Amino acid sequence: MLTQDHFLLIGHRGASGLAPENTLASFAKAVALGVDGVELDVRLADGEIVVIHDERVDRTTNGRGLVSELSFDALRGLDAGDGERIPTLAEVLAEVPPQVAINVELKGAGCAAPVAEMLAGQRRPLLVSSFDHAALAAFHAACPDIPCAPLLHRWRQDVQAVASGLDAWAVNIADRIATPAHINAIRSWGRRCLVYTVGEPDRARQLEAIGASGLFTDYPDRLAPVLRRSNS
Ligand code: G3P
Ligand code: CA
Repeated sequence: MLTQDHFLLIGHRGASGLAPENTLASFAKAVALGVDGVELDVRLADGEIVVIHDERVDRTTNGRGLVSELSFDALRGLDAGDGERIPTLAEVLAEVPPQVAINVELKGAGCAAPVAEMLAGQRRPLLVSSFDHAALAAFHAACPDIPCAPLLHRWRQDVQAVASGLDAWAVNIADRIATPAHINAIRSWGRRCLVYTVGEPDRARQLEAIGASGLFTDYPDRLAPVLRRSNS
C-alpha cells in the first residue's frame, strides 16, 4: 500500500518547524507544502490512540504529567500550541487527504494491537515504524500487508537480520549514521532507506545522490522546491 517511484519527502510530526508538532495544523501545513507523507508518533492514553511524541505532555502542551496517567478528557483539554488539541490517530486518518501517506511511529507500550486494528481497513498509503522492534514485530504479525520499518539511531551489526525478520519495507536511520556504506548496505538487502531528520537542502540533495529513498524533515518548505526540481 506504499509505493515509491521517487525520493520521498515526509513531513516530520507534520511540518513541525512551522506549526505545533503532531497537530492537525501541522499535518495540514505539510500537506499544503506538497509532502508525499506525514510522520506522527502515537501512544495509548485512557484506551485511545493519541498523537504525541513524548511520554509526558510537558514539552508540547500547557499541561504536566504522563500521557499514560491522564484521562482522555484531560488530554483533550490541553493546548498543544496555537490552540490546537492533541489529535487522535482516527482524526488524522480522517483529515489527511487519502493520497498522502501516513507514517505511524509506535512510541508507547501496548500500541501495536490497537494501531493494527485501526489501520487494518485503511485504503491509503501507510508505513508503520518503531525503535521498539518487538512492538513492530507484533504489529507486522497482525498486519503483514502494511509496510513497516525499524528505526535505528545507531548502527548495529544485526540490522540485516532485524529487517529480514520484519520483512521490512524500509530501514529508517538517523542522519548521523546515513553514510554511503550504510545506505548501500540497506539497499543491497532490497530495503528502502529513509533518513531522519534533515533540514538543509544541500544535505537532502546529497542523500538523494547517495541512494537514500527519502527523508523526514521539519521544514518541507525548504526541501520541497529542491527535491521536486530534481524529481521533474
Ligand atoms: O521516524 C523518524 C523519527 O521520527 C524518529 O525520531 O524522536 O523524532 O520520533 P523521533
Ligand atoms: Ca517520530
